[in-house]
Amino acid sequence: DEARAEDGSSFGFDEIEAGVDETHHVAKGYDADILMRWGDKIFADSPDFDPAAQTAEKQTRQFGYNNDYVGFVALDGNPDHGLLLVNHEYTNAELMFPNWAKIGKKMEDGKEEDAVIMGDYTKELVDIEMAAHGGTVIEIRKVNGKWQPVLDGKYNRRITANTEIAISGPAAGHDRLKTKADPTGTKVFGTFNNCAGGVTPWGTWLMAEENVNGYFGGELKDDHPEHANFKRMGIPGGDYAWSKFYDRFDVEKEPNEANRFGWVVEVDPMDPTSVPVKRTALGRFKHEGAESIVNKDGRVVFYCGDDERFDYVYKFVTKGTFNPNDRAANKNLLDEGTLYVARFNEDGTVDWLSLIHGEGPLTAENGFNSQADVVIGARKASDLLGATKMDRPEDVQPNAKTGKVYCMLTNNSKRKDEQVDKANPRPENKFGHIIEITETDMDFASTKSTWDVLLKCGDPSVAEVGSSFSTSTTANGWFGMPDNCAIDAEGRLWVATDGNSKKATGRTDGIWAVETDGDLRGTSKLFFRVPVGAEMCGPCFNPSSDTFFVAVQHPGDAGLPTFETPATRWPDFKDAMPPRPSVVAITKQGGGKIA
Ligand code: FEO
Ligand code: CA
Ligand code: CA
Ligand code: CA
Repeated sequence: DEARAEDGSSFGFDEIEAGVDETHHVAKGYDADILMRWGDKIFADSPDFDPAAQTAEKQTRQFGYNNDYVGFVALDGNPDHGLLLVNHEYTNAELMFPNWAKIGKKMEDGKEEDAVIMGDYTKELVDIEMAAHGGTVIEIRKVNGKWQPVLDGKYNRRITANTEIAISGPAAGHDRLKTKADPTGTKVFGTFNNCAGGVTPWGTWLMAEENVNGYFGGELKDDHPEHANFKRMGIPGGDYAWSKFYDRFDVEKEPNEANRFGWVVEVDPMDPTSVPVKRTALGRFKHEGAESIVNKDGRVVFYCGDDERFDYVYKFVTKGTFNPNDRAANKNLLDEGTLYVARFNEDGTVDWLSLIHGEGPLTAENGFNSQADVVIGARKASDLLGATKMDRPEDVQPNAKTGKVYCMLTNNSKRKDEQVDKANPRPENKFGHIIEITETDMDFASTKSTWDVLLKCGDPSVAEVGSSFSTSTTANGWFGMPDNCAIDAEGRLWVATDGNSKKATGRTDGIWAVETDGDLRGTSKLFFRVPVGAEMCGPCFNPSSDTFFVAVQHPGDAGLPTFETPATRWPDFKDAMPPRPSVVAITKQGGGKIA
């Protein structure tokens, strides 16, 4: 194949050097251009960005904060013109707002982490935060080889923590989803902590709600019927001050609101007035992503990680089949189907265990009176089914070319020796690993498949780390903490990381290209790296694989940074401008595929 280099590598680019500095780096011969920054205009008449004079009203018409998932939907089949779909996962108040004080706090594991002084919050700041969450649809096109936003694009849209969203599927209308503001249990305002996601075969955008617990405050009494459910989800997390100003985020005042978050949200980007839908059939947990594939029988299979230490890998198989000739016919495919959770057996097989009310332990005796209870309490249902407790499942990505499925397991420093199993083979797993599932006979709906560990991450030169990168991997080529990933048009795997730093691994996060086949299996090469303090999100190829969109999240978030003292001012490098999370478009100089 054309990309195959002389050394047998599937990847032709020259590896860059790992390290830590204030800017980004990409392989020689490629351009990495800033496409969208926090605060950039989404509409032709959006206000200019002034971080010292920000308001919620302005923010709702500007690109949001902390770009995470990036999807691309081509318009008229043109790979050089389409809609960019971007999740805005969370906000860093200390980097967004001037004069924000922070204090250091020692965490239980001895690591110093930062803590916001909550008392400094005002309703105005909370409103800006709520407007900076959610997502953006922005039309983009390539002009003279460079991507640019189309500000008068008719599809452009912001979704925030206040956007009206419908609830469908087995939990819609259930008593546990009813609130004072919504006695029907079918309508909710907003989506937040949208981490990774997916684009469905019919071109809709899935936004996965992940660490939703952090937005809730107050205290639920021990004898409240939702107490165990909330505890299992870490609710209330108290990371934000939203509950001080909005009762719906106070679990004491509105206990059911928290059951309305932790879902996968489907958005039709082709209709900017459409009401997004929370698809409850896919279960409620800390959803990382929802990547999908059309199975050979036409059903569609969605893979979802639940990003928590000792939580699970899921897949959802639709009941109906995908209709490629009638987009509207696929509209509610996500409302009916079977949710499965993975049990990785010691013999190298994986059982996909179905979460169906009335089957096995999922009965009234155990508190499951309906399928609504099963999906609301998906974690508890999976506990009872005996699913395998994993090292923080992140992106789970099917590969249509090979029938393999890649599970990013980012890390789990809390796994003890006696909790080690074959699928989570290292105690105190600081650097994470990648599991490769082989679905039987390329049947992605299979309930019995096989699996293997593709990579145990971390520095291979330190024996006690127990890393498994191949010996062909250079000192720049290894990484820790896999998080997101992408498969290109040739079926090759590209991994994005979250948590590499000067202290942890002597390098920033980035994109590493990983060999999955042949003699070089387990070899990795560094293609792109982020500025100090940032995490690497996104990665998304356009359909012709000549553009690689990557998302640089929370640049400058290293040490105890503030608006005035960030670790970098990337990408503007202007004194009055704080660092700005941005989507970057990587292209080959002179054109051609990302090789
Ligand atoms: Fe938002 Fe699981 O990373
Ligand atoms: Ca993230
Ligand atoms: Ca992630
Ligand atoms: Ca992560």
